[in-house]
Amino acid sequence: MNKMDYVGIDHMAAYIPGQFLPLESLAIARNIDVKKYHEGIGVREMSIPSYDDDVVSMGANAGLRLLRESGIDPKEIGLLIVGTESSEDRAKPDASLIHSLLGISESCRVFNITHACAGANYGLVSAIDWLSADSSRNYAMVIASDIAMYGVGSAGEPTQGAGAVALMVSRSPRLLGIKELATFSNSVYDFWRPIREPFPIVKGVYSVQCYLKAALACFKKISIDQNYDFVYHTPYPKLVEKIHHEICSLMGISLDERSAHYQEKVSPSNEFSAKIGNTYTASLWFALMGCIEFKLKNLTKDLDSKDENKGMYLFSYGSGSGAILMEAALSNYWVEMAKHFNCADDLINRATLTIEEYEKILSGEKLQKNNEPGAVKFIFSGCENHQRKYELINRQ
Ligand code: HMG
Repeated sequence: MNKMDYVGIDHMAAYIPGQFLPLESLAIARNIDVKKYHEGIGVREMSIPSYDDDVVSMGANAGLRLLRESGIDPKEIGLLIVGTESSEDRAKPDASLIHSLLGISESCRVFNITHACAGANYGLVSAIDWLSADSSRNYAMVIASDIAMYGVGSAGEPTQGAGAVALMVSRSPRLLGIKELATFSNSVYDFWRPIREPFPIVKGVYSVQCYLKAALACFKKISIDQNYDFVYHTPYPKLVEKIHHEICSLMGISLDERSAHYQEKVSPSNEFSAKIGNTYTASLWFALMGCIEFKLKNLTKDLDSKDENKGMYLFSYGSGSGAILMEAALSNYWVEMAKHFNCADDLINRATLTIEEYEKILSGEKLQKNNEPGAVKFIFSGCENHQRKYELINRQ
């Protein structure tokens, strides 16, 4: 099948919380050489959610932007899947609240999927199967929304973050076609979140080994094309660099050439995660948006360099563990769709937190700083009778 005929992503949109902590401030407070964060882990800033951001409000904000910018009528959406591992409720799916906030029709299948960071990716391949099964189905929306927090002073602290990405999935995608190439499942305890524990339990070094095992298992199943772009789930950029080094060895790329291959084929996709941090289910999709925004920024007038039908590998890993490797190809209209992303601008507009403000927020204080004048967005407005409430506000 021609890559252009794949079912895939018609459009995508992100929500990034309006405040962040520079990693320099964290390094000073923890008495750690900042080079460990900048060079050893590859992170520079991390997005910190405010008290009125949660999985539902962030996901609904990404979905709202997606509807506005794609021009698709919410009544045409027949499937809504939310991938998350930071849900506030074990029975009522976040997807049902988002479904109501976005005004999607009642004849829509609505549910959450949890598989650590891979939840939204399982959502995407399910949406592709659902669309492929019946030609009367038009659109599915898949939302990845997560708050990644490990706690003050923990080893995972510099790899925290938060954000959401919404994907519109269609049979004739204007952004990129997607095909599943390989999948991997293996029950391990590398990172897990027992009920009632405030933060995940992580075996850091082991989690890296599990990620590598899953990546090698998937890439070994295919004949790898060196000319593709490689977009990975990115808990932190340095890990992706190390993983890609091993994938280069499968491709027979010499040790001397691996850094150059990484710089050209992978590093643009790390741009956002270095400034947002880990976003669990949304991490792969922020990496993809980074890769595409980079292409857009470097577009020349030469039509041949527009990268249409350009191949990419998308690799998603979820602790516990599961992984999916997909092939993607940019469609003829990708430039028009990518012009709406604006993630780079959203990052510039965030407010800077001090370390004291960050620690107060993590201790549960209702503190908020943001630079979003005029932003129309959903916020979590509190609980009544154990029911979570949301409002659409126009921030002044
Ligand atoms: P750590 O123990 O603080 O760090 O934990 P380290 O001592 O291993 O140092 C990190 C790197 O910095 C090392 O480089 C050091 O040498 C270097 P490496 O040896 O790895 O090449 N370093 C320096 N470099 C320059 N100048 C210096 C300096 N000092 C040290 N002065 C760890 C790091 C990532 C393990 C920790 O942050 C953690 O536990 N994070 C959370 C777990 C995680 O992200 N795992 C990733 C794989 S699992 C996954 O991706 C799934 C996940 O997203 C969840 C899900 O699926 O739901 C996490």
